[in-house]
Amino acid sequence: MTKILKNFWVLEGLDGAGTTTQLKKIDKGLSETGKAYMITAEPTASETGRIIRRVLSGEFSVPQSTVARLFSADRDNHLYNPENGIIKNINEGKIVVSDRYFFSSLAYQSIGFDFDTVMLINSSFPYPEYVIYIDTPVDDCIKRIDSRGQEKEIYEKYEYQVKVKEGYEKCFKTLPEGCTLIRIDGSLSREEIYEEIKNKLINKIL
Ligand code: TMP
Repeated sequence: MTKILKNFWVLEGLDGAGTTTQLKKIDKGLSETGKAYMITAEPTASETGRIIRRVLSGEFSVPQSTVARLFSADRDNHLYNPENGIIKNINEGKIVVSDRYFFSSLAYQSIGFDFDTVMLINSSFPYPEYVIYIDTPVDDCIKRIDSRGQEKEIYEKYEYQVKVKEGYEKCFKTLPEGCTLIRIDGSLSREEIYEEIKNKLINKIL
């Protein structure tokens, strides 16, 4: 049976969709509820996460199959680290919210590698209780990425993001019972997006 990790929420979206902005807003929103919580992100700040960041920046290149396994190793530590892992925090009664999780691997690493194999590599990990998907048009994402004026990461290209979007749709078709998809129109303003997250999720746990 597929395991669902209660009180675990994840944010997903294309590059430039605004997941990091929403994570900050959720952080503020949850802090006002008085509930115990932790916010986190993948790739993590661990040593494995650092190697991943170097790959994402284009500093060195490895096959997509290797990238998939690096993300999976980082995720394993993210979940199971006995000192600061997601499971430990959930067992202490916290709500844990992560900016990205294995849906990102399914959407991104299945381009140039086999979807079913990426699924297999991630098959031991529990599903979150909620997936908040910020569904932003590719054009908007690319405009935002361009307007940052920063060095682009390897996946921050129009054609790639079109495929990532298709990958997300594919993996959301097979969510198990108990894992709820909250799809939010990413063309709304950041305030409106947060308002939806608040109404559909944060207000419900109060
Ligand atoms: P971000 O920190 O801006 O969200 O960037 C993380 C990048 O890593 C983004 O392009 C998505 C990508 N990614 C994967 O390709 N696979 C994964 O499993 C995760 C968590 C992220």
